[in-house]
Amino acid sequence: MVRSRALLLLLLLPPQLQLGPGLAVRAPVFGRSDAHSRSPEENEFAEEEPVLVLSPEEPGPGPATIDCPRDCACSQEGVVDCGGIDLREFPGDLPEHTNHLSLQNNKLEKIPPGAFSELSSLRELYLQNNYLTDEGLDNETFWKLSSLEYLDLSSNNLSRVPAGLPRSLVLLHLEKNAIQSVDADVLTPIRSLEYLLLHSNQLHAHGIHPRAFQGLKRLHTVHLYNNALERVPSGLPRRVRTLMILHNQITGIGRDDFATTYFLEELNLSYNRITSPQMHRDAFRKLRLLRSLDLSGNRLHTLPPGLPRNVHVLKVKRNELAALARGALAGMAQLRELYLTGNRLRSRALGPRAWADLAGLQLLDIAGNQLTDVPGGLPESLEYLYLQNNKISSVPANAFDSTPNLKGVFLRFNKLAVGSVVESAFRRLKHLQVLDIEGNFEFGDVSKDRGRLKEEEEEDEEDEEDKDEEEEERR
Ligand SMILES: *[C@@H]1O[C@H](CO)[C@@H](O)[C@H](O)[C@H]1NC(C)=O
Ligand SMILES: *[C@@H]1O[C@H](CO)[C@@H](O)[C@H](O)[C@H]1NC(C)=O
Ligand SMILES: *[C@@H]1O[C@H](CO)[C@@H](O)[C@H](O)[C@H]1NC(C)=O
Repeated sequence: MVRSRALLLLLLLPPQLQLGPGLAVRAPVFGRSDAHSRSPEENEFAEEEPVLVLSPEEPGPGPATIDCPRDCACSQEGVVDCGGIDLREFPGDLPEHTNHLSLQNNKLEKIPPGAFSELSSLRELYLQNNYLTDEGLDNETFWKLSSLEYLDLSSNNLSRVPAGLPRSLVLLHLEKNAIQSVDADVLTPIRSLEYLLLHSNQLHAHGIHPRAFQGLKRLHTVHLYNNALERVPSGLPRRVRTLMILHNQITGIGRDDFATTYFLEELNLSYNRITSPQMHRDAFRKLRLLRSLDLSGNRLHTLPPGLPRNVHVLKVKRNELAALARGALAGMAQLRELYLTGNRLRSRALGPRAWADLAGLQLLDIAGNQLTDVPGGLPESLEYLYLQNNKISSVPANAFDSTPNLKGVFLRFNKLAVGSVVESAFRRLKHLQVLDIEGNFEFGDVSKDRGRLKEEEEEDEEDEEDKDEEEEERR
């Protein structure tokens, strides 16, 4: 079973990377048909999505053996490559011992009944980028593939999850179809399933049957981003560890949405429509293992109470935060990185006690807010402090007294004037490697600032919103 272990070797790579022959991951077309309803920056964001792919396995041209279908390449080892040859019809004469079959990037609309019935050794089947429809498959198309572990049906024309998938599947790619429903019994027989990729489809919450994931004890990674979910689907797999549910239309988090997902480690809820009143304060109470939570790009106006205590990374960028709920960060001794970029925080919203429990914090990003001072009382563990694009007008001598371990301080595009920065504040920072105070000390010349802002935008798209704010200010 060494090979099947190797099969599970997954890489998270940006889609534009060239992955070598056996793989043919296409430059993905992101966003749904109503992508225009998103702001450009959200779409841009979506394009950065990682794509889950298998470790490439070279099919190798190999000598065409007796059994090889026309225009395909077959190897002695059972690899058959019929990818990207404009096939409209399913090829005949597939060698019986085929274990890896590439049919991606063709024009297949259907697979004739029984096409796979002899291929009991098939472990990997690549069908992405075809025109397969629901009618083009039947409930027995894949059924006899009793060794199949990896099935890629992404970028086809399916509107539902096909029935009759083999129980042996470990990884199922269904992203970039037009899937609107996941019925009760289509997935539940696949007891081996570990990875389910359903992103970039047209799923609404009611399209996912509450028992769709029942009993899938091995299922630990579920990608549901870029769909039309209005709420967290009920009946999430109990053993899910990674749940990517960003870029949907979720407006709130209910008390019991995550009441049974005790094993969740990574939860990405960014770019939804969650508001503070709709976010239940006990919603995360069971998520003791959660390490990473992303609530960026929602409509929160306070950093909510009841955040999971054990997270290492918390992102709440680009919301409308004007305040931190009392005790919002209490007890978060494990927090290493906190991102509050692109909100409306003013200095008075961040009393020195806000950070009191964050004994492990290494990175704090409050860029693009409305701070007028360097925040006080920051934890000693802090190494990187991002404060660019605020309205900070002075750096007093004691500004970094509580943070002697800082390695990077970023203060570009604030309102620092010559003479308002006490240099000795920095001189005490023995570990300081980067001090960025560009874009200060010169407020008169708007055109010059614009030029600089342009440059920065290219360097760091994170700051896009901040630029808008700055420009608004000038008007
Ligand atoms: C959430 O997903 C987006 C898109 O992949 C990513 O940029 C972001 O870093 C993720 N959040 C966390 C906390 O990993
Ligand atoms: C496929 O559907 C037919 C008709 O509904 C049914 O008789 C058959 O048992 C199904 N096959 C499988 C593998 O579910
Ligand atoms: C598949 O979907 C594409 C894009 O949505 C559409 O243009 C095409 O007509 C569809 N093809 C079939 C065979 O349904």
